[in-house]
Amino acid sequence: MSPSSSRGLFITLEGIDGAGKSSQFDAVVDALRGLGREVVATREPGGTPLGERLRELLLREPMSTSTEALLVFAARQEHVLRVIEPALLLGHDVVCDRFTDATLAYQGAGKGIPRDRLEALAHWVHPGLQPDLTLLLDVPAEVASKRLQAQGREPDRFERESTEFFSRVRQQYLELAREQPGRWCVVDASQDPQSVRLQLMDHIKKHL
Ligand code: TMP
Repeated sequence: MSPSSSRGLFITLEGIDGAGKSSQFDAVVDALRGLGREVVATREPGGTPLGERLRELLLREPMSTSTEALLVFAARQEHVLRVIEPALLLGHDVVCDRFTDATLAYQGAGKGIPRDRLEALAHWVHPGLQPDLTLLLDVPAEVASKRLQAQGREPDRFERESTEFFSRVRQQYLELAREQPGRWCVVDASQDPQSVRLQLMDHIKKHL
């Protein structure tokens, strides 16, 4: 297969746990496919067989914060080399549920790892690669926490974090969005899912 003459679009979805990202992710992927585009739908941590095994460890196994950050980037390295870059080179769109912005928000602002250390790892793992469009589902931490409780399932290691933790993560996302307004679109995810979906699609269509 020869690379397509134009690279695909790299779109990421971000938001704190409980923002409603998973159902919107499916809607975004379906809508792009409905427009006739080739879409690779993937997620982080995960997206490759090794990445999915690392995801299980990250979500369940107690570990230090630095181990956590390094495992996130180890999974990401596999994902970038085996899935994301090859798909973009073939001209396919890649829609990814979280990417490096999640690391800056969760392991950085949430857990206190200095941003420059995380950015050095990002530069090592994916030099020159960043999303073309990042959709932030923004919701107050209190609202997200109520949504998670309403799901009534066993929370994973991240979902067990405090409301203060998720407030820091949210603020970091908003700060990143302010720093690069051309890449980020912030959508108020406390609205009903249908209006959130329509706004996401508006933003995406502007980037096509
Ligand atoms: P998900 O539930 O959105 O699939 O994400 C799994 C968890 O992984 C979520 O709580 C956020 C966390 N995470 C990080 O802490 N750092 C990262 O870099 C990524 C990609 C996810």
